[in-house]
Amino acid sequence: MNNALETLRKAWAEIFGDAGDAAVYFAPGRVNLIGEHTDYNGGHVFPCALTIGTYAAARVRTDRLLRFYSVNFPENGVITCSLDDIAYRREDGWTNYPKGVVCELAKRGYEAPYGLDIVYFGTIPNGSGLSSSASIEVLTAEILTDSFSWDIDRITQALISQAAEREFIGVNCGIMDQFAIAMGQKERAIFLDTATLSYEYVPLILPDVRIVIMNTNKRRGLGDSAYNTRRAECEQALECIRTRIAAPSLGALTEEEFEAVADTIPTESMRRRARHAVYENRRTIRAAEALREGDLEAFGELMNASHRSLRDDYEVTGPELDALAEAAWEAKGVIGARMTGAGFGGCAVSLVRGEYTESMIREVGGKYEKTIGYPASFYVAEVGGGPVRLA
Ligand code: GLA
Repeated sequence: MNNALETLRKAWAEIFGDAGDAAVYFAPGRVNLIGEHTDYNGGHVFPCALTIGTYAAARVRTDRLLRFYSVNFPENGVITCSLDDIAYRREDGWTNYPKGVVCELAKRGYEAPYGLDIVYFGTIPNGSGLSSSASIEVLTAEILTDSFSWDIDRITQALISQAAEREFIGVNCGIMDQFAIAMGQKERAIFLDTATLSYEYVPLILPDVRIVIMNTNKRRGLGDSAYNTRRAECEQALECIRTRIAAPSLGALTEEEFEAVADTIPTESMRRRARHAVYENRRTIRAAEALREGDLEAFGELMNASHRSLRDDYEVTGPELDALAEAAWEAKGVIGARMTGAGFGGCAVSLVRGEYTESMIREVGGKYEKTIGYPASFYVAEVGGGPVRLA
């Protein structure tokens, strides 16, 4: 953390001059343990916040300018816009995320009276599927909330950040990432019902077990359009099911209820998409139960089944994520492994018995590089808290 603060201070001095009274904030990234592509289907998710995330130094200005700089994207330089003219611009790159948040806040009556200078520094690898963009969004919501003493609770910050992603950026995402980041707690996973936003913290104190995140180092690329396609397929499937029964969402169905109406869905591929959404939600409910009971073996089995379903029914894994998960399943000491996040690249997550962590990383890393042709990266994750002002 000290290094991050030092990095911010240095960048601020170079870009905006003396850091003086700039305030410093942090918001985490997230990893989802299980419950993938369920959040826009009214199902459950089970993510946790990480100790890696995004740091920012911010200072309110006396005029209406917003000036953004990121240590991670020095080539973009300082991007400036006025509070009176906030629009999505492709060439503005990553700054569309904070701009989107400022814009969505204003729509809800939280109009910033002054502009800000903000320098960001992220420790989440870009495109890794650990929610670097949601982290920037929630962090920005927190910076404005604090700077202007607004009374906005964490869940509202999450919803506003999600709206920025959907309305401003154009990715029709669910609420999981922003919620996990805004509501993160140290050493706890969040069991969230996305249909009602009711949630429960489940302790993630795993003696002698590590959460190992495995990065394919393949950026998500085309993922965003495929994401919207999957979402549309689920919506269509639900429409078909509704010709027979009144279901509010795919997440509202049990496996048996789904199987009894699956024949209303006309194509095999759409049926598989819906099957994933229904079964994954049920697996997530069981996984939370298994963790509460300390049954890690059962939890691991559910993780593995989740990956198979995302590979075979939902078709969002691809050779890189499959290579990681499949190599992890064969490695000694692995309790469970699966892709995490949207898929199409990004990261997989595994639970590994502590003493086998190094051998697992060596073995999986070796197999991955042999199959895919370039190396994966590995991080032993620590589960951290939500947004915070550090200085
Ligand atoms: C992305 C989205 C989330 C969720 C996951 C898949 O991370 O932002 O809302 O849909 O994909 O589970």
